[in-house]
Amino acid sequence: MSDFPYVALETKGWRMAMGLRPLDLDHWLEVDERRDIELEQKRQLLDTAYDVVVATTPEGDEGSRELLAEVTSFLEAHQPDIAVDVRGDDHPLVAAARLVQEDLCVLVHSDVWRLQAACVCFPSRWNLASKLGTTLDDIHRPVPSYDVELSRPTNAFFERLKPERSFWRLNWTLIDSPALHQPTSARRSSHGDLADWFFRMERQTLRRLAHSDAIVFTIRNYVASAKELCDTHEEFGTTLLLNLDTAPDAMQSYKGWIGVADRLRASLGGASTN
Ligand code: HEM
Repeated sequence: MSDFPYVALETKGWRMAMGLRPLDLDHWLEVDERRDIELEQKRQLLDTAYDVVVATTPEGDEGSRELLAEVTSFLEAHQPDIAVDVRGDDHPLVAAARLVQEDLCVLVHSDVWRLQAACVCFPSRWNLASKLGTTLDDIHRPVPSYDVELSRPTNAFFERLKPERSFWRLNWTLIDSPALHQPTSARRSSHGDLADWFFRMERQTLRRLAHSDAIVFTIRNYVASAKELCDTHEEFGTTLLLNLDTAPDAMQSYKGWIGVADRLRASLGGASTN
């Protein structure tokens, strides 16, 4: 676990922020040793639950075709050892999603920016079908305080995003299952101690495609045992507790964190005296 790539937590406590950083397109997508496992999982989901993991409209087709071309040329340039097999009978977005560990979303501007095509095999407790065709504000409706804190800057960012300058951001959560595919929003009540919780980091990228003018949003998930991160990263446990404690009640409830900090505190205290 010492090589878990993104542990970043706010050291000053809970904060909801855009947190956008400039993205060098040479690092657009990330390939690691879990590629075969995750792509096999995608293959199985596409076979058994296609309508849960794929949602498309004709408005998203042009952007999807350009996205597939971008994904294949990225892999050819940066991962020359990977065989880039594109299935001709797939929707281009699905063909692209089969090649990379990321989930892929295409947003197209009509009256406003709307989600018009997506292949999301690894959702973090949200339902893709309900978001298709909707706006950034509607997509984020369940997120407490998004409307007052992030709606305006996020919409403005989408208006300004240019093909020459791409961005990335991180979004973390603490979750009671290591499964990558979590499509239901039901949040179970807190249970268990540290060993039952998992730190889930989403690395997200945002880029505007030059020809179709669509915006591509990619989501790559990294999951690690909270216990192992506490054991291997100094300060992780205390910073995690600080973030849980200082998250507003509505956010704790949205995330399923009510009562969790106290349980973790107990097991962290136990761990540190051993
Ligand atoms: C600058 C761009 C964006 C920002 C700042 C942003 C921010 C956020 C934040 C803070 C959350 C709460 C996550 C949590 O900790 O649980 C969230 C959730 C979410 N975001 Fe975004 N987001 C952005 C772009 C997008 C885009 C382009 C999509 C398109 C699919 C998207 C889809 C979602 C979904 C589906 C959720 C979960 C909502 C639910 O619970 O139903 N986000 N986002």
